[in-house]
Amino acid sequence: MDPREELRSMVTGLRVSAAISVAAELGISDLLRAGPLPLAALAQRTGTEKDTLNRLMRVLTALGVYTEGPAGHFANSPLGEVLCSDVTGSLRPLARTFQDPATWGAWGHLLHSVRTGDTAFEALHGEDVWTYRAGHPQANEVFNANMTALTSRMAQAVASAYDFTGLNTVVDVGGGHGILLEAVLARHPHLTGTVFDLPQATPQGPSEEASDSVAARWSAASGSFFEAVPTADAHLLKKVLHDWSDERCIQILHTCRRALPPDGVILVIETLLERPGHALDAALSDLNMLVLPGGRERTSDEFASLFTAAGLRLARIVETPTEVVILEARVDASQRAAAATVFLTEHEDRVNRR
Ligand SMILES: C[S@@+](CC[C@H](N)C(=O)[O-])C[C@H]1O[C@@H](n2cnc3c(N)ncnc32)[C@H](O)[C@@H]1O
Repeated sequence: MDPREELRSMVTGLRVSAAISVAAELGISDLLRAGPLPLAALAQRTGTEKDTLNRLMRVLTALGVYTEGPAGHFANSPLGEVLCSDVTGSLRPLARTFQDPATWGAWGHLLHSVRTGDTAFEALHGEDVWTYRAGHPQANEVFNANMTALTSRMAQAVASAYDFTGLNTVVDVGGGHGILLEAVLARHPHLTGTVFDLPQATPQGPSEEASDSVAARWSAASGSFFEAVPTADAHLLKKVLHDWSDERCIQILHTCRRALPPDGVILVIETLLERPGHALDAALSDLNMLVLPGGRERTSDEFASLFTAAGLRLARIVETPTEVVILEARVDASQRAAAATVFLTEHEDRVNRR
């Protein structure tokens, strides 16, 4: 492609994001799921103005998200189908996140982050993304739905990739609606598990898809991982550390370590900056972390340094056939005796508090 054309389409990419985001918000793909519809019916069902909806659909048809038949009926293309709410790994919640002016505005403030190192969202809105979401139920719901949709695409592969033999209890720390925990419990019937998150994200119960066996071994708890997390043989931290600065990551790892028996494991599930085939996705996600929560994507060496700072060691990296790997952290040998004492004291405190 002509370099000018190639760059022009990158520069104007935000128009494409905005158009797809509006289609997602209006639920156009869901409406077309049952079959093609003419413009007038789409306008009526989405509560939009026919002429402007036509202008939007012209763009989305040219992009290949929808097709327009000879009689003027619109239909989903394979791209449009991925915006349906009920497909595994639906991208509708991701597209809807750009309907939130706070998110859109933070990306518009990227230059400030690059100049100063500040988190754009906080600099612009005066609060961090978690506080903002706690006070904005719609944005919170879309964010949690997006995490569930993204994680549903890889949960089974992650659950299958790790051998949980010898471990009995697992906590999905910052586990959102618990889709990964459900996959782990389904794949490993000897485990019981708890999903732990902020009150705004903790689910009321397992999902409708969970089997009776999974539901019987499933529980949920709310709190902050900067204070305490439930005790378990294994703590999962999926796409949690990338939200935070090194200093905050070390605090989270410390909290988990205190609630871990000396032979327990912390499984950090993340993308790696250096992993072949994922470079652009990881680099863009890194900017997303800079702009929104104030975290960063990391290399395996950087994760190893975080573990060392928290009295842990990187035991091994387990590959998965998805964009994430599993970094297994264990209590460092030199710290095992001290860790055992801390764990027992914490455990006694918990029993006494009950
Ligand atoms: C990027 S999401 C990852 C969710 C889930 N692990 C997944 O991969 O689908 C980060 C999660 O951390 C949670 N979180 C943020 N701050 C927290 C805190 N202080 N204590 C517990 N959870 C927190 C958020 O509510 C959110 O569910």
